[in-house]
Amino acid sequence: MACASFVKLNAASSSWMGQKSSLGKRSPGSSTRRVSLSTRASSYTEELVRTAKSIASPGRGILAIDESNATCGKRLASISLDNTETNRQAYRQLLLTTPGLGEYISGAILFEETLYQSTTDGKKFVDCLRDENIVPGIKVDKGLVPLPGSNNESWCQGLDGLASRSAEYYKQGARFAKWRTVVSIPCGPSALAIKEAAWGLARYAAISQDNGLVPIVEPEILLDGDHPIDRTLEVAEKVWAEVFYYLAENNVVFEGILLKPSMVTPGAEHKEKASPDTIAKYTLTMLKRRVPPAVPGIMFLSGGQSEAEATLNLNAMNQSPNPWHVSFSYARALQNTVLKTWQGRPENVEPAQKSLLVRAKANSLAQLGRYSAEGESEEAKKGMFVKGYTY
Ligand code: 13P
Repeated sequence: MACASFVKLNAASSSWMGQKSSLGKRSPGSSTRRVSLSTRASSYTEELVRTAKSIASPGRGILAIDESNATCGKRLASISLDNTETNRQAYRQLLLTTPGLGEYISGAILFEETLYQSTTDGKKFVDCLRDENIVPGIKVDKGLVPLPGSNNESWCQGLDGLASRSAEYYKQGARFAKWRTVVSIPCGPSALAIKEAAWGLARYAAISQDNGLVPIVEPEILLDGDHPIDRTLEVAEKVWAEVFYYLAENNVVFEGILLKPSMVTPGAEHKEKASPDTIAKYTLTMLKRRVPPAVPGIMFLSGGQSEAEATLNLNAMNQSPNPWHVSFSYARALQNTVLKTWQGRPENVEPAQKSLLVRAKANSLAQLGRYSAEGESEEAKKGMFVKGYTY
């Protein structure tokens, strides 16, 4: 059995304690009780580490197109298309068959319907991705519902049956998973909501790893609110501390996960906007305080920022080396111009694919710290923040 291990001082009892570990040996004569807590890994450990590393590869990031049917319907409605399976398939086909996408995109998060779909020529979408060296991923959570006993907050469903669903997704070609839960600053956040979010993410992560899927850990701290950036930093530190506490308790292998944090910004309704340099400084401070370097990749969500803002902020974070690969896992900030260009017309598929490549390349450069905003379109500068956004 593969073992990743770390040392815990004065640790409470654990069923994995006392196993052989390179870091956990008690030094002779030491009066401190030093015990090893081994992180048990599944038979998939080596593959998980490989998958995570290939997603976190230089100049590449994730294309998130895992909108539920309801949310995809809203995207289609914005260009006056009906929310039918045919239209959803046509839109996903446009995105997933973009020639050359794999140069900038290392993973694509799909909704369950898309994972099992094919192109109109009968080629499975997962094979289109593999041909471009893009790892197929799958959204596995079942969405948010109200959390009783909280301050109008929510919790994320989906743990029931997750092991068997994950095993099926693996068979279908998925190699990583995503679970998005949210934390609202204006609603508190309450200690209960943070604990529930962190515990749910940790249980999901352990189940995913057990079934060969690299878990993307995403506690989205919503942009909603008029709070200053320092308040976001405080909440983010609290949330990530708890997430890592429970990830460790659930024996999750840190080398085989990816994170999807929100950037640390002021609330969307705060009177002052922060510059990319300030956002980068706060976000990296938070991450360096909370995220162990064993984690291979930080793949940010865009959360309602404009396409250009999301790229500029990522670029600012990559001006000097970081302990982890710092990249993107954007949905709105990669898809906005594509949808507007497409308009549901077959003759616009090629220009829409070109516009996807423009955004993917911009974010690839930002991952390398070499992006310049010169020549960005007005469309790319438009914010996409929606209060209480669901996915
Ligand atoms: P956005 O980049 O639109 O915030 O996407 C969030 C998300 O979780 C997509 O998988």
